[in-house]
Amino acid sequence: MSTRRSFIKNISLAPASLILPTILSADNNYSTPYKEGLIISTWDFGAKANEKAWEIISKGGKAVDAVENGVKEIENDPNNTSVGLGGFPDRDGIVTLDAAIMDEKGNAGSVCALQRIKNPISVARKVMDETPHVILVSEGAQKFAISKGFKLEKQKRSTVSDKAWKEWLKKSEYKPIINFEMHDTIGQLAMDKNGDISGACTTSGLAFKMHGRVGDSPIIGAGLYVDNEVGAATSSGLGEYVLKTLGSFLIVELMRFGYSPQAACEEAVKRITKKYPYREFQVGFIAMNKAGETGTFSIHPGFEFAQCRAGVVTNVKAGSFL
Ligand code: GLY
Repeated sequence: MSTRRSFIKNISLAPASLILPTILSADNNYSTPYKEGLIISTWDFGAKANEKAWEIISKGGKAVDAVENGVKEIENDPNNTSVGLGGFPDRDGIVTLDAAIMDEKGNAGSVCALQRIKNPISVARKVMDETPHVILVSEGAQKFAISKGFKLEKQKRSTVSDKAWKEWLKKSEYKPIINFEMHDTIGQLAMDKNGDISGACTTSGLAFKMHGRVGDSPIIGAGLYVDNEVGAATSSGLGEYVLKTLGSFLIVELMRFGYSPQAACEEAVKRITKKYPYREFQVGFIAMNKAGETGTFSIHPGFEFAQCRAGVVTNVKAGSFL
């Protein structure tokens, strides 16, 4: 009779080749990709990014062009204090920007701690398309951007950011405020009418961070991950915790093994809350799979995503762990 112990013993004696293929070949085969056009973006301000992306997708354009131009809309908004040059500065009063993009072929490009360039997402796109690299940082990224014709803007803070920074300097206290300082990233995922998926995210990062700090957004697998066979995920919130758990990659891999986007987002949040029981920070994920299902989950209430499905616009509130 085969007891549990003897079964485990037999498994442990079996050659890896007999066990691993069974596990690793558990890919979902989404034979019918959703082809009506689907775009999801973090937060309510994602709606504006979706509008732009839909202009491209609705005309049969590619998802990668949709997400680049979609999130660029938010970078261009000088009143957004968490994305683009209007973003809150670091402790030294300097605005540094992070962005990443990933296409349906698995190509990726990103920039970290980029200063004085209005559209880091387009620099990330050029890193992806026109260099043999994935990540360029700081001065190197800026030099590259200038070489590609990007304008070097003046080093300045918006009036709102300047005021907030000066207020912060009075105490100089590192204390993330849930859904405020953490309301910090536009992440957008899109599936075009060919059924191809791409994603992009861009941020000025954590408000009043240490100079040189980089969060999850420009790190492929942390703040953004796309696998065109399976789906895509992106995050918002305190990047340090997403970096330590590679949340977006985790979600895509869970979907590969059969999790729905919703279940995968919930599991990624649970990994964080279990490992780091100090939960006085926000992290939220959004995800889509090849079949056009979506999911979202966050640690605290207040996270949401904007959706455009076949041209129909909705806002979806995330469920939360707490
Ligand atoms: N999630 C953006 C950041 O932490 O920088």
